[in-house]
Parts: sequence; structure tokens; C-alpha cells
Amino acid sequence: MKKLVYLLAITVCCLALSVPAVWAKKKPFKIRFSHVVSENTPKGWGAKEFARRVNEELKGKVEVKVFPSAQLYGDNQAIEALAAGFIEMAAPSSAKFVGSVPGLQLFDMPFLFKNIEAVHKTVDGEIGDELRAMFEKRGLGIKLLTFWDNAFKQFSCNTRPLIKPADFKGVKFRIMSSDILEAQMKALGAVGLKLPFSEVYNALEQGVVDGQENTASNIYTKKFYEVQKYLTFSNHGYLGYAVIINQKFWDKLPQDIQASLSKILKEVTEEVRKKAVALDKEQSALIRDYAKKSGKLQIFDLTPAQVKALQDAVTPVHNQFNDVVPAAWIEKIKKM
Ligand code: LMR
Repeated sequence: MKKLVYLLAITVCCLALSVPAVWAKKKPFKIRFSHVVSENTPKGWGAKEFARRVNEELKGKVEVKVFPSAQLYGDNQAIEALAAGFIEMAAPSSAKFVGSVPGLQLFDMPFLFKNIEAVHKTVDGEIGDELRAMFEKRGLGIKLLTFWDNAFKQFSCNTRPLIKPADFKGVKFRIMSSDILEAQMKALGAVGLKLPFSEVYNALEQGVVDGQENTASNIYTKKFYEVQKYLTFSNHGYLGYAVIINQKFWDKLPQDIQASLSKILKEVTEEVRKKAVALDKEQSALIRDYAKKSGKLQIFDLTPAQVKALQDAVTPVHNQFNDVVPAAWIEKIKKM
């Protein structure tokens, strides 16, 4: 009898000990998503929406936390941090891949994409697949998930109105880290200074640079318009993002989670496309409004002939980088 009680006690103890192990919840996979822009921009919105949906639909399995406005990492640093596993996701602009996947600078080519539909045909088609393969081939430990839009860029400066190529002569512009943007400025007789996004406002304010190029959403949310006298709606180049994830992190995710994340991301990408158009319209109008009310900023819209003159000045850049941006891509996109 004593033996039986003893055995029973041991069994109960074992059961008690094993229950928490059985019931113990698996820890969710954590995704730190770092980016440099404000929340009220296409990328800021997309990252938040992706996090909201994942945190809701994969509750307990995956947790996403977004770090906007370069809180964690600025620009090119984010790519290195992601490859090293300090963050799991990021969405740097194409220009920031100059040192890692230089083919992405395709998107920095001035006046290459006729409209946003041409960008979508590019990323959704064979060129997009080739870019995805480039990431794998380079063995960076980075997986390309999707592409997100911002919009087309506008020029601004403090020196003089920027209407014709001669107006750009000698003007110092802040540019992103792309060599193609540097060549674009050179083709206009201007100087491109590569600076991180988080330093642009101060650089403009303190006269380190005279001007900059960016989309309405970045100009508006970071208040660049406050420290510029002239802004030209030139739509001379595209700004978009490669949404990336640490390859090792991705590989260790169970297949069903990978599938759910891919589905959510595909749907969010569709929404980002719509949101980007709406924000561009809304924030361009807000910049025009500020110009009108404050009298401190002059806005210029170009005639088709003026656009053509700028275009003629910069298109030689299209074939200056054929070692990283194949001529076949350029020709294909021009026909879109
Ligand atoms: C910039 O540096 O101007 C942009 O790449 C910022 C961004 O991510 O939109």
C-alpha cells in the first residue's frame, strides 16, 4: 500500500511538471521593421498596415514592431543591420542598394519610367524576377520580398527657379547614395552630395546644400519646403522601395507562416500602390497651399517643351551604367 501511494505521488508530480511543458506557449517570431521616413508616407503607412495585419492575423505566432524615422538605423546602415540579423525587415529605397545590389539603381534613372504603370510592369514582370534572383546570387543573406511605391520626385532649391538645364549649373543638391543620381546631377551641370535622409533638413537649412530632390510625401512630412525658396514639379525620376527580410530568419519560419506573411504582404503592396497615389496628390496640394499662404516658397510647373529639354539633358545617363543596369532593361522599359 505504501508503495502504491508512493508511486501515485510520483506520477502526480511528473504530470504536474509536464503540464506546463505541454501547455507552454511557443514564443512568437519577432520582426523588427526599420525605416527612415515618417508614418504618413507610403512606406510608413505600408509598414504600419503590414504590422497591424500580421499582429492581428498571426497573433501569438508572429509579432511585428515598426521603427520609423530612422529611430534604429538610417539609410544604408539598415541593409547591413538586416544582413547581420539585428533587424528582420526594412524597405530601403533603390538608391541605397548601390553597394549591395547595384542593379536596383535602375529605378533611379531619370525620365525612364513614363508613368507608374511602367514601374508596375517592370517589378511585376521579368525584370522584377531578375532583380529577385540578383539578391540570391549575391549571397548577402537578404531576401527580396516585394516592391513598394513612393512616387515621382520633384526638384527644389534656394539658388534660383529650376526650369531649364542651365538653371542647374553649379547648384549643390543633396542626393541619395545612388551613383546614377550623381551622374544625373553631373549631366545637368549640378553637384550631387550623397547625404542620409535624416540629415537633409539641416543640410538645407544650414546651406550645406542648395537643393534636393524627393517626392511630395517626403518633402511635406519632413518639412523640406520650409527651408527652400523654389520648387519645381518636375516628376523627373521615380522613388520606390525594395521590401527585404533577413534570409536566415525567413528560412527558419514554418511554411504556413511564410505563406501567410507572403499573402498579407501581397495584399498590403496592392494597397500601398493606391495609398501612394493618394498621398502624392494630397501632399503636393498641401505644399502648394503652404506656398500660397506663406509667400515663402515659389512653385513652378513645367511645360512639355521644358520637360523635354530637361529630359534631353539627362537621358545620356541611361546607358552610362550598362555594367550594372543592362541596356536590354532600359530598352524594354522605354517601350512600356
Ligand atoms: C531618401 O533618402 O531621400 C529616401 O530614400 C527616403 C525614403 O526612404 O523614402
